[in-house]
Amino acid sequence: MDDLRDKYLQAIAAADDEATLESLRLEAVGKKGEVSLKMRELGKMSPEQRQQVGPQLNALKEEINSALAAKKAALADAALDERLRGEWLDVTLPGRPRAQGTIHPVSQVMEEVTAIFSDMGFAVAEGPQVESDWYNFDALNIPSHHPARGEMDTFYMHRAPDDERPPHVLRTHTSPVQIRSMEAQGAPIRIICPGRVYRADYDQTHTPMFHQIEGLALDRDISMANLKWVLEEFFTAYFGTKVKTRFRASHFPFTEPSAEVDIQCSWVDGQLRIGEGDDWMEVLGSGMVHPKVLRAGGIDPDKWQGFAFGMGIDRIAMLKYGIPDLRAFFDSDLRWLRHYGFFALDRPTLHGGLNR
Ligand code: DAH
Repeated sequence: MDDLRDKYLQAIAAADDEATLESLRLEAVGKKGEVSLKMRELGKMSPEQRQQVGPQLNALKEEINSALAAKKAALADAALDERLRGEWLDVTLPGRPRAQGTIHPVSQVMEEVTAIFSDMGFAVAEGPQVESDWYNFDALNIPSHHPARGEMDTFYMHRAPDDERPPHVLRTHTSPVQIRSMEAQGAPIRIICPGRVYRADYDQTHTPMFHQIEGLALDRDISMANLKWVLEEFFTAYFGTKVKTRFRASHFPFTEPSAEVDIQCSWVDGQLRIGEGDDWMEVLGSGMVHPKVLRAGGIDPDKWQGFAFGMGIDRIAMLKYGIPDLRAFFDSDLRWLRHYGFFALDRPTLHGGLNR
């Protein structure tokens, strides 16, 4: 028994991997291992002998098993130490830089405007940018002979030469969304429609694509007074300072009466200040929706009335954020975008603040 013990304890001590340990285990205490075979011989012994040899064999088996377990743990520790020596990480190295984009001022302002109007109960509505001439013109009381069509610098979509139907257009304003929303929702209605519009015009203050936001509120007794309140409320929230408005009589085919709206401002040393002084700056067109327009939208003008307005988003973005050149909005110049862009996680809300 001492020979067996010496033989296996030495072999276990000398083993240098788990496979060797496992074959030693089988050899010693496996079903047909040497110790197990010895145990089988107990049956042939006299009771006295058995009482002496039995416990010794059990003790030997236990001793070998625990030597195996201890060696196995030691091998695992050694393997781990080896890995830890080989694999290491310098946590003091600087991280890899990750390019971070910014939110374009136009997107930012659309979100700001939406936050303010949502608070006054206006929902957002959208329409297609390729529009039929019915929605872009006729339904808005701009018949084909009307001079306003010529003044709009419209982009026309191509039709096959033998196709007599009037061509589709790139919408020249967001006003067609008024008609689509009236058709889809009926009255009462309170919506704003932000989006892209197109006109064939390019100079310092015009780009062939730009952005507008349309407003429409219809109910039983909505008046110009409601329009004035809504707009002053809007500009005051948007510019973060009390802003007065001035309504000037004007003409749009889709409103009667019509007004152009100016906001109060001043010029100090060539610097524009909104909401103070006694200069005025034109920012939008508006009026009471024309009965013909209501009818085109499927709404009875004897029962419903209301106001509409249309405003340039790029324009009010330039005014609020002091951006001098409109064309730079659409140049995709990264330096410009980093300078005038907004942090993506700063979402404009009335309670959290519209902008930083
Ligand atoms: N659609 C007009 C334009 O693009 C702006 C406008 C004026 C919209 C008066 C309106 C409005 O809804 O009532 O110049």
